[in-house]
Amino acid sequence: MAPGPQSPRCSWRSPWSALTLLLLVCTGVVTSLRDARVEIPRAVLRYKDATLRCVYDMEGEELYSIKWYKGQQEFFRFTPKETPSAKVFHIEGIDVMKERSDARKVTLRHVDHSAAGRYACEVSADRPSFTTSMVEGRLNVVEVPRHPPNILGLKSRYQLGEYLRANCTTEPSHPPANLTIYINGNQYVGRERVSHFKTRPDEEKRQRPVVGVSIKLLAEHFGPDNKLKIRCLATIYDVYNKVDERSVELRSSYLVPPNVLETNQPPNEPYDQDMYDDGKRGRYPGGEVT
Ligand SMILES: *[C@@H]1O[C@H](CO)[C@@H](O)[C@H](O)[C@H]1NC(C)=O
Ligand SMILES: *[C@@H]1O[C@H](CO)[C@@H](O)[C@H](O)[C@H]1NC(C)=O
Repeated sequence: MAPGPQSPRCSWRSPWSALTLLLLVCTGVVTSLRDARVEIPRAVLRYKDATLRCVYDMEGEELYSIKWYKGQQEFFRFTPKETPSAKVFHIEGIDVMKERSDARKVTLRHVDHSAAGRYACEVSADRPSFTTSMVEGRLNVVEVPRHPPNILGLKSRYQLGEYLRANCTTEPSHPPANLTIYINGNQYVGRERVSHFKTRPDEEKRQRPVVGVSIKLLAEHFGPDNKLKIRCLATIYDVYNKVDERSVELRSSYLVPPNVLETNQPPNEPYDQDMYDDGKRGRYPGGEVT
């Protein structure tokens, strides 16, 4: 049972003997291509070219072939000892740029949504070992919104105890942008039921995200300048990052002593249209939100 030096098994009984055995015995089997990996961009903009890399160390062995697969289908093979070395197999939605593809990388021209998915690279060493290693990763194809995010439904002034209700949305995109709302710099986590949804994908797979805010306004929400800042951040992976930032004010009648307020306008009087934020881009009241 005891794993001595004469019984070359890969045992984990003692970390040291296991390590020694691994180095002495196992490495002969697994040395090559040990650290093979793919470097695939997490997200690529639609219609841009995408370069997928296969990173490996032959550790003295000769390369026999590199094969690239999308899902189960092989679409590119590089065999250095054959002429031509590079072969392209046509599959739907992928256009390989042969002049920018070799033993280390494959470049796809003008990727569309159909190019998104799982990609695998298979590295094979030549004789005598024929060691093969397969590594894979995912490519996302992104179409960003045409405009920055937009906060809708804000009034320019509020009174204490009133609810601030607003929505943030972006133009449709694929995938829909992640929207995060900040109130005075702190991430807003809605406890009340507020809208948070995506529209159905259109024919280009684009969806519009909407996130709602509903806050009962207290004095603590307003700084010394009687303002509250609301910010909406829209992100898509690491390829898109835009914000809309607004500030709203406490109604000036709240800044005067209560006895004067009594004789002033009643707090519940309906607001005039010009009390509303003009929406900057002229899109309030936002008929676009569906
Ligand atoms: C936010 O969006 C929802 C759903 O479209 C809508 O019912 C609500 O009125 C909107 N709120 C504001 C303040 O615009
Ligand atoms: C949105 O956020 C989630 C959680 O952080 C993340 O897993 C996902 O990849 C993000 N999606 C996009 C499109 O950025």
